[in-house]
Amino acid sequence: MFDPLFLYRTAARIPYLCGLKLTIMSVAKEGPKKITTHVLSEMKMKGEKIAMLTAYDYSMAKLVDKAGLDVVLVGDSAANVMAGWETTLPITLDQMIYHAASVVRGVKRAMVVADLPFGSYQGNSKEAVASAIRMMKESGADALKLEGGKEIVESIERILSAGIPVMGHLGLTPQSIHKFGTYSVRAKQEEEANKLVEDAHLLEKAGAFAIVLEKIPAKLAEKVAKELTIPVIGIGAGGGVDGQVLVVHDMLGINQEFSPRFLRRYHNLYAEIVGAVGNYIEDVKSSDFPNEREQY
Ligand code: KIV
Repeated sequence: MFDPLFLYRTAARIPYLCGLKLTIMSVAKEGPKKITTHVLSEMKMKGEKIAMLTAYDYSMAKLVDKAGLDVVLVGDSAANVMAGWETTLPITLDQMIYHAASVVRGVKRAMVVADLPFGSYQGNSKEAVASAIRMMKESGADALKLEGGKEIVESIERILSAGIPVMGHLGLTPQSIHKFGTYSVRAKQEEEANKLVEDAHLLEKAGAFAIVLEKIPAKLAEKVAKELTIPVIGIGAGGGVDGQVLVVHDMLGINQEFSPRFLRRYHNLYAEIVGAVGNYIEDVKSSDFPNEREQY
């Protein structure tokens, strides 16, 4: 299979073979181009779609980065997929920092965006900036994501004034699940759709570098993406936006219980893992593992 890293390493060796040591040193230093807010903005301008997935640990982060993903989101969906909570509300700032720092250690090229969890920024803008600074300082993430519109604009402005890039999140915002009461499609009614468009403009004006739109009608998401100059990344928001995000455990088919219409499964890791572990159990029970070559 084509391996870009192999190609890069091979190409980087050529000057050495020719005795041009200085040239290779500059080539080797460059490495893959790191994705920044500026790169994402250029991608939107060029019409190049942005690919974003979640990751919560070092090993998965390494894999998705190696595959060439643009943005790794350390989502507070870690509360669901990593910890088994029903909602995202219980995860703490300390726990999110742990996940984000693990991801940062595995990523070389992608931009790492970390969610600020429920309860770490809704109180007031002072609390928000303190949480944001802790997350950036202790995890090494490149940017933060916060859920909400008008009600958190002041917090976003304060976080930005501390030099921290912010991604917004509108539509279905899981941290407000108890207010919504259900995970169904948001902004189907005109009033809520108008508020969403207004909020998206407010976030852009406040300085957010991108916005996630979750589970809203495709036409509405497309309208927002067309009106804004910043990238709009959708999950269950159709194809008319500037990029897509999915929870990595869902798209790899590790998680079988969650099957919304918007989810495309690219693998059935559930079956693969259960099958492999089943084979291991069989081999241990039958004393087939370890064999002669697998011991000292
Ligand atoms: O926490 C998360 O995984 C998210 C995505 C669903 C956008 O916020």
